[in-house]
Amino acid sequence: MSDSAFHYVEGVLHTEGVSAASLAEQFGTPLYVYSRDALTRAYHAYADACAGRKAAVHVAVKANSNLAVLNVFARMGAGFDIVSSGEFARVLAAGGRAENTVFSGVGKSAAEMREALEAGVKCFNVESIPELHALNEVAKSLGRKAPVSLRVNPDVDAKTHPYISTGLKSNKFGVAFADARATYAQAHAMPNLEVVGIGCHIGSQITEISPYLDAIDKLLELVEQIESDGMSIRHVDVGGGLGITYDDETPPDIGDFVKTLLDHIEKRGHGQREVYFEPGRSLVGNAGVLLTHIEYLKPGEEKNFAIVDAAMNDLARPAMYEAFHRIVPVVKRDAQAHNYDIVGPVCESGDWLGRDRELAVEPGDLLVICSAGAYGFVTSSNYNTRARAAEVIVDGDRARLVREREEVKQLFAGESILPD
Ligand code: LLP
Repeated sequence: MSDSAFHYVEGVLHTEGVSAASLAEQFGTPLYVYSRDALTRAYHAYADACAGRKAAVHVAVKANSNLAVLNVFARMGAGFDIVSSGEFARVLAAGGRAENTVFSGVGKSAAEMREALEAGVKCFNVESIPELHALNEVAKSLGRKAPVSLRVNPDVDAKTHPYISTGLKSNKFGVAFADARATYAQAHAMPNLEVVGIGCHIGSQITEISPYLDAIDKLLELVEQIESDGMSIRHVDVGGGLGITYDDETPPDIGDFVKTLLDHIEKRGHGQREVYFEPGRSLVGNAGVLLTHIEYLKPGEEKNFAIVDAAMNDLARPAMYEAFHRIVPVVKRDAQAHNYDIVGPVCESGDWLGRDRELAVEPGDLLVICSAGAYGFVTSSNYNTRARAAEVIVDGDRARLVREREEVKQLFAGESILPD
């Protein structure tokens, strides 16, 4: 396994000092398991490379919004990147601060803007002219000025999956590069907005640095024009998107990535500006796994199936993106391996977690779906009226339940039948 927080001890998979088998016994399956040490190390890789530079890290809450996970980052001084008032509430409940929070997203409602502005968020990342007008109105009604950064679409190819590539012209995200200067002029003319920055987010699971450098070059070119129009750009937000190893990808090391971007911006003569990073996946992806157990082994004419108790409602990425997650047994068996598709109990052919995997397993064995810390639990659903999994953080030789397993009765507690 790629991350030392998850390793075998005498043939049994452990997270830090705790065996996955004991976690399954104590908390049941399916179970999301995170390593505090892995979360801490990933955050430090960003923070250490930013130390002494004009740079800030805003954790993208969408990747993993468990309160305890956010709290681990908040304790280390992280800022946050949110896309809804729900995420904002989580940040505040987890000990994060409004003044270290940036508000992204293409469809903020007036109510969300009002709440965030009243609380004093650091910046609104605005994506369209109508949104600028809406924010200006909200700020006016509060007698305030809203700090604004435009998310510009630099039209670069991040060379990633089309569903998670966001910097191309054809995406719904950001202000088109060609319109950006005029949009800034409009923002500048609105009395209740204060232009403070510029940003982009070109996609996710990006494994090369060059698309970032291309995007930064385009942003800096714009910054010079915008400043000659009388605005002052204090920060440049380079977004998130750094990839992780799911299979055989070799993304840049976090520290190298941060340093390369900061050095590049400095060399281009913009070292006086603060640089914001918005990482999600690279902080949490390989700090978490999904633990599941095999209900049945079902041999077939063309394929063998290992039917497990986790499903597409627990981890949507394979069904959604045909994403690859490594799958390993918790206890290594000294037996003949067979080829299996790992599937869940949901009534959809798309309900699979892994295909064509060589595994030596028996019914009742535990499996670990690796690299499930990002966009795992947060995209889980109650499809097929399945209660969502519990979440646990391992810290050294202790395991703490940080989200209880849902109970079925909670799932329809807000529903009612017709009176007649
Ligand atoms: N900032 C903005 C504005 C974003 O839209 C995103 C992710 C991030 C930061 C964090 O990106 P990261 O560092 O995690 O790549 N569900 C998909 C990924 C969707 C990413 C959405 N935006 C998946 O499971 O692969």
